[in-house]
Amino acid sequence: MIQYIKQQALYLAILCSAALTLNRVSPANAENLAHGRVTVLDGIPYYVDDIPVSRLLDVPASTLNSANLSDVDILPMTVISSNTSDFTGSELNATIAEYSTRDDVFSLAFLNTIYLTNTKHGSAAIDVQSTLPELHRNGNSVLMVSPEYHPSETAHPAMKTRLSLELSVGPYFLSTKTGQIFKAHRLYEDPQMAFLESSVSDGMGGYRPPPGRSIAVPSRLYYTVTAEKPLAGLRLGVKDIYHIKGLRTSGGNRAYYSLYGPRNATGTAVQRLINKGAVFVGKMGTVQFANGDRPTADWVDFHCPFNPRGDGYQDPSGSSTGPGAGMGAYDWLDIAVGSDTGGSMRGPAGAQGLFGNRPSTGAVQLDNVIPLCSGLDTAGVFARSAHTWARVAHTWYQYFDGDYRSYPKRLLYPRNSFTPKAINNTDASAVIERFVLKLETFLGAQRTHVDINSAWNSTRPSDAPDTTLQDMLHYTYGTLISVHQWLHLGAPFFQDYAAKHDDRTPYINPGPLLRWNIGKEAQQEGWDKAWQNKTIFQHWWNGDTGFGAHDNETCSDAIYIYPNSVGSVSYRDEYFGPPSPPFWGMSDSNIAVFAGVPDLVVPIGEVPYNSTKSGKTEYLPVTMSLVAARSCDLMLANMVREMEAQDILRPVAVGPMLYPSKGYPSSNVGGKLDYLG
Ligand SMILES: *[C@@H]1O[C@H](CO)[C@@H](O)[C@H](O)[C@H]1NC(C)=O
Ligand SMILES: *[C@@H]1O[C@H](CO)[C@@H](O)[C@H](O)[C@H]1NC(C)=O
Ligand SMILES: *[C@@H]1O[C@H](CO)[C@@H](O)[C@H](O)[C@H]1NC(C)=O
Ligand SMILES: *[C@@H]1O[C@H](CO)[C@@H](O)[C@H](O)[C@H]1NC(C)=O
Ligand SMILES: *[C@@H]1O[C@H](CO)[C@@H](O)[C@H](O)[C@H]1NC(C)=O
Ligand SMILES: *[C@@H]1O[C@H](CO)[C@@H](O)[C@H](O)[C@H]1NC(C)=O
Ligand SMILES: *[C@@H]1O[C@H](CO)[C@@H](O)[C@H](O)[C@H]1NC(C)=O
Ligand SMILES: *[C@@H]1O[C@H](CO)[C@@H](O)[C@H](O)[C@H]1NC(C)=O
Ligand SMILES: *[C@@H]1O[C@H](CO)[C@@H](O)[C@H](O)[C@H]1NC(C)=O
Repeated sequence: MIQYIKQQALYLAILCSAALTLNRVSPANAENLAHGRVTVLDGIPYYVDDIPVSRLLDVPASTLNSANLSDVDILPMTVISSNTSDFTGSELNATIAEYSTRDDVFSLAFLNTIYLTNTKHGSAAIDVQSTLPELHRNGNSVLMVSPEYHPSETAHPAMKTRLSLELSVGPYFLSTKTGQIFKAHRLYEDPQMAFLESSVSDGMGGYRPPPGRSIAVPSRLYYTVTAEKPLAGLRLGVKDIYHIKGLRTSGGNRAYYSLYGPRNATGTAVQRLINKGAVFVGKMGTVQFANGDRPTADWVDFHCPFNPRGDGYQDPSGSSTGPGAGMGAYDWLDIAVGSDTGGSMRGPAGAQGLFGNRPSTGAVQLDNVIPLCSGLDTAGVFARSAHTWARVAHTWYQYFDGDYRSYPKRLLYPRNSFTPKAINNTDASAVIERFVLKLETFLGAQRTHVDINSAWNSTRPSDAPDTTLQDMLHYTYGTLISVHQWLHLGAPFFQDYAAKHDDRTPYINPGPLLRWNIGKEAQQEGWDKAWQNKTIFQHWWNGDTGFGAHDNETCSDAIYIYPNSVGSVSYRDEYFGPPSPPFWGMSDSNIAVFAGVPDLVVPIGEVPYNSTKSGKTEYLPVTMSLVAARSCDLMLANMVREMEAQDILRPVAVGPMLYPSKGYPSSNVGGKLDYLG
């Protein structure tokens, strides 16, 4: 086919280079594998899958087969769509520049073969004089045109190829044997070990792992944002507790991964993001069963992902560890989904300095997800900008009112959370105080100091136990998750495993195992009591005397803020004692858990520390939690988007620092903008 097109093209005087430059794709670097293959262009690895998205027509198959192409069978190709009647060299220049800027998959190597089509004119021409030199300069070997083009000299009809299916612009691979066209995926390495499994579409609504451990991401040029697909092109990683059709789920446990087969359905939560245009690229690391593991000793089954911030050896937190670490490290990843039962989104958002949330409980359905405790489990998303985070929230949390344009006039400031003891870092205190002052200006409100423990003392409902808030809620969280996950995940898993493995028990990491043993003891009866306590708090917080009241103009009567991460050093190689029970008492971060309200973490700055690992001054994120009334998730989304527009919040960069262009004190310069589609 190369020969064929070459000859025809010469007649048309369109082909610019006499010698075909086919050396870029050769058997030496193309590895044939079960599903598609890996190939290398200019030193960059690409994945070529085996699902054709289109095929060249008007090129007889016999011609394709008879061409002597034993040394090459796929060609990198670019589809260009013009809307002018006369295609010129400067239009080609501009197109190449645009593709290079917008897309990390496209590269000049894909200009080897070009398919030019026209979206506007039924009859169009190529300005040969200005175009040929540019084609030549960019290493083009083959130029094919759609039937709209009428080359001036000779019009050889066969040369005008058509596609069996229309294609978006961008880079592809063309099979010289069959004329089939395949999507181009760039392969990225995962040095942070944030992913457990790369995934590509299987063309049938499911996914499958491509060969190797690299992450395959398709060209960004394939996707266009529309009203139906507001998330088009956003590359999405998902914590490996969500079932995805065609893939196995590990839950961070090897025995679980191998026991159950590929899943037959994708859960509602992830499917909605995919339906709205997000591009799912892989499963990401999780604390085992989203329960409780710390790095070093507890992550037995899989290695704990690496937090890229600071010296690179800080605890990435969890349980949404892979999504947090990956979002902090990879600019080729746009959003990542995790879960939050007791802080599993907000911990990694703090440790990695990301926008990340726990939504109002029930914001999205959690079918086909490994449970920790239904009723407390929620699905959240990480992003590097408020803009992108808000865009996903608006699409995902579809049941909430998204029209709020005025914001609460009350700012609740829990005195105890802002004490030197709680922050213990004067640099972080200064960052926080600056932010709170700006937030006061933004809301047009001054902070109101509150203390939920004394408020509880004075306003707790008459039917509540006559105890402090701390006493009532001390055992609540630990009991709820331990009992629920044992009954709904552990017990059936043990049973299924035993049936298949001659009564053996599967290996469980020390953290979840301890908790499941607690769950076995407490039983449903213990769960019921804990749920009662949780419900008492929920009604109090969300009622008139609590702090979570609604307002019909601003959705939430108030915003309750507290520091999330404050630049505390937490090396991942620290040895702790054995896992201890998850009885947390009551803290600011439990408010959202028990009251079912949204808690959104936003990065606000970074502070220095002297690393004992690198021997240098490094920087760690400072983040703030914003808590609002139940179902006010989208009011928060609008608010942080507006704050970003006003430069009160800033997008963060990937890598060691959030705001690398300006060191400490992080002031006017924001991080590198992430991809906003
Ligand atoms: C086809 O390719 C092979 C291997 O490169 C070569 O030996 C042979 O001469 C070629 N045949 C023709 C007809 O070009
Ligand atoms: C033509 O294409 C250019 C570049 O893609 C684009 O900026 C412009 O809006 C298009 N014009 C029309 C009329 O579609
Ligand atoms: C295309 O860009 C190159 C370099 O970027 C420049 O030298 C050339 O003149 C441009 N061609 C046209 C036709 O604009
Ligand atoms: C998927 O469906 C097949 C056929 O019904 C079944 O055998 C298999 O166990 C299912 N896989 C899972 C993980 O449920
Ligand atoms: C505060 O920091 C000091 C020194 O860095 C440390 O010794 C102390 O334990 C910290 N206090 C708290 C409450 O974290
Ligand atoms: C709440 O009341 C208890 C006694 O019931 C008391 O010990 C505690 O200090 C009070 N807490 C606050 C913050 O007032
Ligand atoms: C529930 O609250 C009561 C009264 O404060 C307390 O004694 C009990 O330990 C709590 N139980 C759980 C599981 O939260
Ligand atoms: C909502 O606001 C309107 C106008 O301020 C007011 O008349 C109405 O009573 C409010 N509704 C509730 C439920 O507070
Ligand atoms: C780092 O160490 C130097 C030298 O001991 C000290 O002056 C500086 O204050 C330290 N910086 C931080 C952030 O602790």
